[in-house]
Amino acid sequence: MFAAIKAQHQGVDVCINNAGLGHADHLLSGRTSSWRNMLDVNVLALTICTRETYQSMKERNVDDGHIIHLNSVCGHRVVAFPNLNFYTATKHAVTALTEGLRQELRLAKSHIRATSISPGLVVTDFPFRLFVNEPQKAEDLYNLYTPLAAQDVADAVTYVLSAPPHVQVSCPPRFWT
Ligand SMILES: NC(=O)c1ccc[n+]([C@@H]2O[C@H](COP(=O)([O-])OP(=O)(O)OC[C@H]3O[C@@H](n4cnc5c(N)ncnc54)[C@H](OP(=O)(O)O)[C@@H]3O)[C@@H](O)[C@H]2O)c1
Repeated sequence: MFAAIKAQHQGVDVCINNAGLGHADHLLSGRTSSWRNMLDVNVLALTICTRETYQSMKERNVDDGHIIHLNSVCGHRVVAFPNLNFYTATKHAVTALTEGLRQELRLAKSHIRATSISPGLVVTDFPFRLFVNEPQKAEDLYNLYTPLAAQDVADAVTYVLSAPPHVQVSCPPRFWT
């Protein structure tokens, strides 16, 4: 993918790591394949895309790029919802990876910005993939309270991207050094 972007557009200026998924596999009984899939997509793919993006920016001397991770409220606390415990662990990793990235960029004297956005429940295909073959469970989630719309998350991304260079939307203060 990154080779194709280089051939067609020279490189990457903004990377939004949005791909992510959950499987409803509890810690006490879940399938290893489900946990591996969540690790691959939510953590490893995000990390690989981040590395490739940084290398693309560096080779073109792009110093005002932006890397945005789609995190979750599950990246900051363990909600009482056992279907999401392993997913929650992957999103905690995203929180650490965002702050680690910010620190590495600072050490590299780069002005590329690192941001993670942590929505609560959003109306997407996510719960229907979480509860495969049980669409009513997904529908029930959306009846708990008024969820966010995808547009709300897109608006947050637009704000983050359009903020002036001295504004970096980043991780919670407890991760700052
Ligand atoms: N929905 C929520 O309530 C909620 C709340 C907080 C955070 N989030 C986060 O928001 C992000 C977007 O999720 P969503 O809610 O929009 O869910 P979604 O509608 O299920 O979309 C998930 C996206 O991830 C992609 N994806 C999944 N597995 C992939 C793989 N192996 N390789 C490449 N792409 C893959 C999907 O691509 P395909 O369609 O091509 O499969 C799709 O574009 C995720 O990181 C999720 O954790 C969602």
